[in-house]
Amino acid sequence: MRVELVPVDDGNREQALALALGPGQERFVASVAQSFDDAEQHPEARPWMRLALADGVPAGFVMLSWDAVPDPPRVYGPWFLWRLLVDVGAQGTGVGRAIIEQVAALIREQGATELLTSYVPGGDGPEGFYRRLGFEPTGEVDPDGEILLRLPLV
Ligand SMILES: CC(C)(COP(=O)(O)OP(=O)(O)OC[C@H]1O[C@@H](n2cnc3c(N)ncnc32)[C@H](O)[C@@H]1OP(=O)(O)O)[C@@H](O)C(=O)NCCC(=O)NCCS
Repeated sequence: MRVELVPVDDGNREQALALALGPGQERFVASVAQSFDDAEQHPEARPWMRLALADGVPAGFVMLSWDAVPDPPRVYGPWFLWRLLVDVGAQGTGVGRAIIEQVAALIREQGATELLTSYVPGGDGPEGFYRRLGFEPTGEVDPDGEILLRLPLV
């Protein structure tokens, strides 16, 4: 399977909005529509968005803070994985891993030394996924109770 990250534009915006989560997963990640809103309202967080195509089919969405000036807890950074979701029909097939690996390579080229993220703890959440990919706790918890992780890039 070939995973490609493409910019979100008028031509594929609806495809990004149509990505669906599984039952109960909305407690772990905000929707693509919410992400578009957040991006518009927080330019200081330097939103960078991509639609992930798996063999040409829309399969995931990722949003980063791209080289932002850190101002925690409002803005974590400089490189922060802000949103990640894989369509329920494509979960468990390596799309999430491919997105993270491509993002890591892209930002490493920009001089990033770590990729930060945070997750909502609990049951069927994404903690195991992030740990499997090499993310480790920073020891911080944000004001919403999300646990901060870092993926070392050097
Ligand atoms: C979490 C999510 C992004 C993972 O993407 P995915 O495409 O399903 O995951 P992948 O198939 O790429 O899995 C990559 C690796 O993580 C492992 N993994 C995936 N989910 C896991 C979990 N919950 N616990 C432990 N390991 C997990 C896989 O076994 C795989 O291991 P391998 O590559 O060594 O074989 C996706 O399931 C999703 O969007 N979930 C709902 C929304 C969400 O929680 N987003 C994250 C918000 S912070």
